[in-house]
Amino acid sequence: MHLHKFEKIWLTFGIVALAVFLGVVGVSAFSQDHTPAGGMDTIDPKKVNETAPFDKPGVTQLDDDTYQVAIVAMAFGYNAPDLKVPAGKEIIFKVTSTDVVHSFTIDNTKVNMMVVPGRITTKSYTFDKPGKYLILCNEYCGTGHHMMFNEIEVY
Ligand code: CUA
Repeated sequence: MHLHKFEKIWLTFGIVALAVFLGVVGVSAFSQDHTPAGGMDTIDPKKVNETAPFDKPGVTQLDDDTYQVAIVAMAFGYNAPDLKVPAGKEIIFKVTSTDVVHSFTIDNTKVNMMVVPGRITTKSYTFDKPGKYLILCNEYCGTGHHMMFNEIEVY
């Protein structure tokens, strides 16, 4: 009889331990899923405008096949002048925010980056087709969220 009672206790303990374990695994899988794709570096959000490459936002050609595009997101827009890049070349987007969390999402592409103040989010992308692509913010960031968009021209 005593043994039986102990077995019940151990069984309960085992189930609880399993539940905790699954919970931990679930939570870490969840948070990993929400890590922005690509590299991540830190930046002082108050010094974005004086920190390279964001001191000169826009397109920079790195070599024959690679271009870098630096973009500053803020409420409610993107500081990204003259966004014109060639198709068929690697475009490295580097985006940061000076205020709250935004996104940098290019319509009809796989570019969908979460933009976090204090972080530089990097994503490499190659456009197949020339055209004009809509850039928009997918993260609710305040009253002007719906007005936060831009355009990139691929030639
Ligand atoms: Cu920025 Cu929504």
